[in-house]
Amino acid sequence: MASPSNHSSASLTAEPSAALSGSIAVPGDKSISHRALIFGALAVGETRIRGLLEGEDVLATAEAMRRLGAEAERHADGTWSVHGVGVGGLKEPDQPLDFGNSGTGARLVMGLVAGHPITATFIGDASLSRRPMGRVIAPLTETGATFHAREGGRLPLTLTGASRALPITYRLPVASAQVKSAVLLAGLNAAGVTTVIEETPTRDHTERMLRAFGAHIEVEDGPHGLIVIRLTGEPELKPCDISVPGDPSSAAFPVVAALLTPGSEIVVKGITLNPHRAGLYTTLMEMGGDIEVMNQREEGGEPVADLRVRASRLKGIEVPPARAASMIDEYPVLAIAAAFAEGETRMLGIHELRVKESDRIAATASGLRANGVKVHESDDGMVVEGRGGEVGGGGHVTTHMDHRIAMSFLVMGLAAQKPVTVDDASMIATSFPNFTGLMRGLGASFAGRAQ
Ligand code: S3P
Repeated sequence: MASPSNHSSASLTAEPSAALSGSIAVPGDKSISHRALIFGALAVGETRIRGLLEGEDVLATAEAMRRLGAEAERHADGTWSVHGVGVGGLKEPDQPLDFGNSGTGARLVMGLVAGHPITATFIGDASLSRRPMGRVIAPLTETGATFHAREGGRLPLTLTGASRALPITYRLPVASAQVKSAVLLAGLNAAGVTTVIEETPTRDHTERMLRAFGAHIEVEDGPHGLIVIRLTGEPELKPCDISVPGDPSSAAFPVVAALLTPGSEIVVKGITLNPHRAGLYTTLMEMGGDIEVMNQREEGGEPVADLRVRASRLKGIEVPPARAASMIDEYPVLAIAAAFAEGETRMLGIHELRVKESDRIAATASGLRANGVKVHESDDGMVVEGRGGEVGGGGHVTTHMDHRIAMSFLVMGLAAQKPVTVDDASMIATSFPNFTGLMRGLGASFAGRAQ
């Protein structure tokens, strides 16, 4: 089997398609899936997980949990069991932990290892090896962990956790749920209260799950709009039954495809609309997208709903920068929607996009230009000049090992006048296995070797 860091690339072309129709469920949420495995590994006893995302990123985290001493296995019915070792019970892995393309897996597990007196080496693919780890190295060093990393705090790195981790108080310098989660994970094995202060709220799956596993965690509104999270260390985590809802970041692709492809009407079932994740849907509705939120309910501690989406004429808007954290992974596909809209769409305050799986501002802007769409790029954002429904297409897009760039431009190809080709669709398997199969089921047309 290929290691998570080792792919052969394959180009794929999306062709102008007829109206999309049908009802689908997208794979499980990636953020929740990583956390279910990690907290399962720290609980005492058996955690059962339904709907785990079986994308490469999450499978790399499952493998890391095994190397750290937990058992993680898939049953024939598709559910997973994790037998945890208890907080403080991780063993030193005898081989490097390979996180492939996954920043979330790598950064969260660094927090986990930092709280244990063990040494582990973290490796990843070329994309992950370019991404900044200094943002977790800084707070985790305060807890007592030591790091040997490449220049600029990049992978591969070796981390030795503290023999007695210290509880710290840490104010996040960037809005990042990964950094918040890494500090909280290290704090689990520290004696005392670990405090994380956020200026901007970010996805709160870690906090929700810590509570469900029985940890004592308080979230309060502090002065000046700050959010203060306090976790009491050294809990005994009890195992949970977790049902992973559909991933709104994956649902974004069929939803935008249906909005842009004339005559379409689809239903996407069972996605989480956690308010810290739902910014894209609010934005698309403001642009005039016909999205009906149905059957709102709560499942496994997360708000869940079904969406009915009909093809719509969109208009450009200014996306409030304060909304960025709640849709941080969705800007590439929003830029595709913006290309088809009437008028300009302004997306600012998104500098973080430059350090994702690729520099997503640069990759999105060059993909748009390759397909005849004008875009103005700045250090912290982009402004897309919408073409009022008529996007030429016909471009060849470089994806830079980024699954979301690949899926975004394939969505463009379904609704553009000419086909759009992405150079490498293989990375889609990191987050959305069977993307093309599911889209084909709705009526989308693809040509090429991938999937
Ligand atoms: C994630 C947090 C976000 C997001 C990523 C998943 C998480 O990253 O982009 O896809 O699960 O915590 P940052 O923490 O870097 O913003």
